Amino acid sequence: MCGIVGYIGTKQAQDVLVSGLKRLEYRGYDSAGVATLGPRGAATVLRTKGKVQELVDLVATHQKTDSVGIGHTRWATHGEPSKRNAHPHVAGSIHLVHNGIIENYQDLRITLQQHDYDFKSDTDTEVLAALIDYVSRDTSSLLEAVRSALGMVVGAYGIAVLDTKHPDEIVVARKGSPLILGVGNGEVFIASDASALLGYTKQVIYLQDGELAVCKASGVELYDMSNKILEPTVETLEMDLEAVQKKGYDHFLLKEIHEQPDTVRATLRGRIDAEAHTARLGGVNMTNDELRDVHHIMIVGCGTAYYAGVLAKYYIEQLLGDVVISVEIASELRYRSFTVPEGTLALIVSQSGETADTLACLTELKRRGVHCLGVVNAVGSSIAREVDGGVYVHVGAEVSVASTKAFTSQVVAMLLFGLTAADAKGVDPERRATLIDELDLLPGEIERVLKAHEAEVKKIAKRYAKYDNSLYVGRDTLFPVALEGSLKLKEISYVHAEGYAAGELKHGPIALIDDTFFEVFYLLDNWLYEKSQSNLIEMNARGAHAIVITDTARKVDAEVVVRVNSKLELLTPLLFNIVSQLLAYYIAIERGSDVDQPRNLAKSVTVE
Ligand code: G6P
Repeated sequence: MCGIVGYIGTKQAQDVLVSGLKRLEYRGYDSAGVATLGPRGAATVLRTKGKVQELVDLVATHQKTDSVGIGHTRWATHGEPSKRNAHPHVAGSIHLVHNGIIENYQDLRITLQQHDYDFKSDTDTEVLAALIDYVSRDTSSLLEAVRSALGMVVGAYGIAVLDTKHPDEIVVARKGSPLILGVGNGEVFIASDASALLGYTKQVIYLQDGELAVCKASGVELYDMSNKILEPTVETLEMDLEAVQKKGYDHFLLKEIHEQPDTVRATLRGRIDAEAHTARLGGVNMTNDELRDVHHIMIVGCGTAYYAGVLAKYYIEQLLGDVVISVEIASELRYRSFTVPEGTLALIVSQSGETADTLACLTELKRRGVHCLGVVNAVGSSIAREVDGGVYVHVGAEVSVASTKAFTSQVVAMLLFGLTAADAKGVDPERRATLIDELDLLPGEIERVLKAHEAEVKKIAKRYAKYDNSLYVGRDTLFPVALEGSLKLKEISYVHAEGYAAGELKHGPIALIDDTFFEVFYLLDNWLYEKSQSNLIEMNARGAHAIVITDTARKVDAEVVVRVNSKLELLTPLLFNIVSQLLAYYIAIERGSDVDQPRNLAKSVTVE
C-alpha cells in the first residue's frame, strides 16, 4: 500500500527519494511524488500518476541539488488515482506525505474552508496539510504545529512533513502506520518499509505509535505526544540488499516460489530435533503448564495468512485432540461480538506484521487479556512488537504482492507451535514423530517437486490460459489448498477462480461447470480417496475440464493429471500447493498480467 520516504543530509535528495520509492513499488500503488527544499526553503514538488518510472522521467527534467525531501507512492483510498490526488500535498508552507486515513477529514475540511483554505484534491491528506499549516500560524515550531494538528485528528497515520519556513528539518509522526528512521553519518533517512533503506544504512529507529521525531542532518530527536523527550533505540536491520533483488529470475514471484526449500529450512532451523522427535520454539514465552492450560486456539489473519491458518487448523486439531481451533478473518472478527472462553490463546498470522485489520484484532484480544502469539515474517513490525511472544517465519523479504513462500512457512510455523503444545500436553507421540519426520523432509521434497513439475505445469498453463473461469476443489487438508490455489490465480492472472470443499460441489458450484471453466482438483491417495474420486466423477460427468493434482499411482480420469511422487503423507498438500503456485504464475505469464504488482492490490494493507 502507500509508501513513504524522506531524506535529509548532503546527498541529492531527489536521487535518494526515487530510489527508495522504486524499492517500495512492490507494495502496490497508483501514483507517486516527491518534494524537496532548497537551502532558503524554495520547494520543488513533482507528482505523476502511474509507475515510479514516470516520476523518474519527470525528475530527470527538473533536477535539483536540494538535500532535503520527502516522497510517496499512493494507493488510492480517498479520491481516484490521479496526479491531483498524488502526494506530497501542499498547503501554505507545509508539504506532507501520509499513509493511513484521517477519519474526520470531512468536518476538518469544512472548518478549514471557512478559514479560506481552498482544496485542490479529494484527499484526507491535503486536509491534514492545511490543518498543520493553519495551526502553524500560532507557533514558530514545526514540531509543535504537527503535534497540535495531530491532537485534532481521528484516524491512523504515518506522516513526514516539510515546511518551507524550516528547511533544515523534517518532522515525522506515527499512529497505526509504520515509519522507520535510518541513521547515517550526517544524514537521516525516513521510510515506511525497511526495504527503502537498504544500501544506505542498517542503523534504524522504529518509531512507535504516539511518537514524533524531528529529523535533522545531525540526527534524530524523539518525542511523545506530551512533548516528553524520549531516548531513541537504534537497532541493526537484519535484511540485506540481495533479498530485494530478482537474482536472475524474471519475476520476484518466481524467485520466491523457488526459494521455498531454503525458506522452509530457515523456518525449521534450530526448532526441530529430527532424532529426538521434539520441537522447540524460543520465542513463545510460555511454560509447559501454561501450554497445558490452552483449550482454545484462535487463529487470526487476512488473505493468504488466513488460508494458512485454515490449513494449520486441520493439522493442529488432529494433533491436540481436545483443543478447539477457530480460524478468523481479521476484518470480520474485529467488529463481531465474540466471546473468548477461559484458556484461549491467539495466533496472529501476518507476513508484513502491519495489516490494519489483523493489528486491530491483536489490540482487542490483548485488551481482553488473551495471550497473543505472532506468526510474523517482518522483524520489528507492529504486530511482532505488540504480541506477547511468537514464532518468526524467517522467509526474508517477500516482494511479490501475491504471497507464496510466506504461506508455506506460516503453515510450518503453526505446526511447530502445535507440536510444542502437543509435547507439553504429552498427546499423540506417534503423530508428533511422523510430523517431525515429514517437516524434516519437506524442504527436499519441495525442491524435488519444483524440478520435476515446472516444465510440465508451464505446458498445462499454455493450454488452460484461455479460460476465464476456474474452480479449485479439495477435501480435508486439500480444501484450504484449493482456497489458496484459487486466490493465487485470481490475484495475478485476473481469472475468476473459486475454491470449494469437494463435498460442497453438489450444493451449488457444480451448476457452473461449462466450457468457460477449468477445474483444479486435488486428490490424495488416503482414507478419503474414494469419496473425493466420486466428486471428480460427478464433475467429469458434467463436462469438466479437470486438471488433477494427485499423489496416487491409480488410474485417474481427467483431461490432465499431475502426479506428484511424494515421500510425505501428512504434508503432501503443501507440495500440491507448490504446483498450484506454479500454475498461477505461468497462467498469469500467458495472459500477460503484471505478475509482481497485480492491478488494484497492495502487499501490505495498512488501511481497513
Ligand atoms: C494483502 C496481500 C496478501 C496477504 C494479505 C495479508 O492482501 O496482497 O498477499 O496475504 O494482505 O497480509 P499479511 O501481511 O498480514 O500476511
